Order: sequence, then C-alpha cells, then structure tokens
Amino acid sequence: MGKVYLIGAGPGDPELLTLKAARLLARADVVLHDALVSDAVLAVISPAAEIINVGKRAGHKLLAQDEINALLVSHGRRRPEVVRLKGGDPTIFGRAGEEIEALRRAGIAYEIVPGISAALGAAAAAGISLTDRRVASQILLTTFSRGIDGSAMDWGCVTSTTTLVLYMPGADYAEVSERLLGGGLPANLPCVIVSRATGPQQQVRWSNVARLASEEKLPAPALLIVGRVASHEIEDLSAQFWDTNRKDPDLQQTSVS
Ligand SMILES: C[S@@+](CC[C@H](N)C(=O)[O-])C[C@H]1O[C@@H](n2cnc3c(N)ncnc32)[C@H](O)[C@@H]1O
Repeated sequence: MGKVYLIGAGPGDPELLTLKAARLLARADVVLHDALVSDAVLAVISPAAEIINVGKRAGHKLLAQDEINALLVSHGRRRPEVVRLKGGDPTIFGRAGEEIEALRRAGIAYEIVPGISAALGAAAAAGISLTDRRVASQILLTTFSRGIDGSAMDWGCVTSTTTLVLYMPGADYAEVSERLLGGGLPANLPCVIVSRATGPQQQVRWSNVARLASEEKLPAPALLIVGRVASHEIEDLSAQFWDTNRKDPDLQQTSVS
C-alpha cells in the first residue's frame, strides 16, 4: 500500500511551487494532474513517473470525478508514491474532499501539500493586497457556479470590508456584473479581472462592478477580485460606496475601519 499526496501546483509559475511539492514531484511514481496545471510545473515531474491527465476543461470532460477517485485508489494500492496534482491549492474548489473520502474509505494514507491558490497569485499579479486595514478586513473566496445543491451566494456575509474573490467567473461578465449588482454591491465598486495569473500570458484588467458587463473577455483561467482593495487609489475610496444602492440593511450599517 502506498501513499497519495494531494499537492497544490500553484497558479502557474513553477517557482511558486513549495519546496515539498517540487521534491515529491521529482520522485513520484505516478502523477494524476488537472488540466489547469501549467506545462512549466509538469516539467518538474520525474521523467520516470507515469503522468496521467485527468483534467476537465469547459465541457471536455476527460474523466468523471468517480473515475478519478477510483484511479487514485487503485494506484494508491499498487504504487509507493502517488501524486494527485491540482492547480492552486488542492483544497480550494478542487474537489479534494471527494478524493479524500474515497482514499479514507479504501484505507489509503494521504497527505495534503498546500499550494498558492489562484486568489493569491492574482492579487500578486495585480500588485494589490487582499486585506488592507483601511478598507478590507475579510476575504471571501467564492464562485457563482457549481454546488450540487445549486446553492446561491450568501450575500449576508458580504460587508463593506469584504474582498470578494470570484473563482470561475465564466465568460459572461454581463451576468456576473448583474449578479453582483443584484447582491447589492455598488456599481462603482472597483474590481479587477486577472487572467492566467503568474504565467507568461498573464493579463490584468481594472474595472468596476457596472463596467464589468461590457469588458472584453479575458482568456481562462481568470478570476475576479471585487472590493476597495481592487484599486490603486485606496486612499481616495470612501464609505460612500456603501451608503448608496444597498439593498441589505446589514451592509449599510457596516462602517469603514
Ligand atoms: C476549479 S478552480 C480551482 C482553483 C484552484 N484549486 C486554486 O486554489 O486556485 C479553477 C479556477 O481557478 C481560477 N484560476 C486558476 N488558476 C488561475 C490563474 N493562473 N489565473 C487566474 N485564475 C486562475 C479560475 O477562476 C479558474 O476557473
């Protein structure tokens, strides 16, 4: 019986791999990776390793999640060191929970090796701080899509000091803008779209919640950071954003610290 390492590949730049991830990749027997893992990171894998792309991308499913779980279990039973390599951090929108459950049920040892999630790579790419004691004291990592129960966004937890990071915003920025406005976010609240963060084709587009609707689409993978930190003029941004347009009284009460 071997061990399965659920490793975070980070957002793209191989230099953002942890030392532990690089060490394990260099000696793995088999690596099962997602589509989002960059070629530069894949190049770190031992040439002797078997490399299996189990990735899924925009409708072209290579393997269903159940099949990936079964593969992990069968390799975990036969090979000493199995790596499950996921973009960013394995525990953030990575379905790691389902894989862990399958491994636990099969009695296979596993270890999580954290990675730099796309939110952090995107903030670095944009040159902004996700928290800022003047305007942002909490970060919400979220997505509008997914969720087996189709769970809607819980706008109640968004306050004037929230930085909202939207993974998998999809190609329809108009819909995203509409949903943000519908959730009560002010039209002129800054946001930034970061595409292919930390990779050679990285792009950063500054916008705001209303203007987002007409922004040109950036190539996937991309994410959206929304909040007063998504600006290089934080000093000029005031609580006025939150005094107008709000539908949720709780949000209106929140003051800027
Ligand atoms: C299925 S989620 C996986 C997230 C990953 N586990 C993480 O921690 O970053 C995929 C989404 O992450 C975001 N993403 C991943 N890599 C990115 C990158 N290099 N630049 C921008 N967004 C990225 C995109 O929103 C993409 O649709």
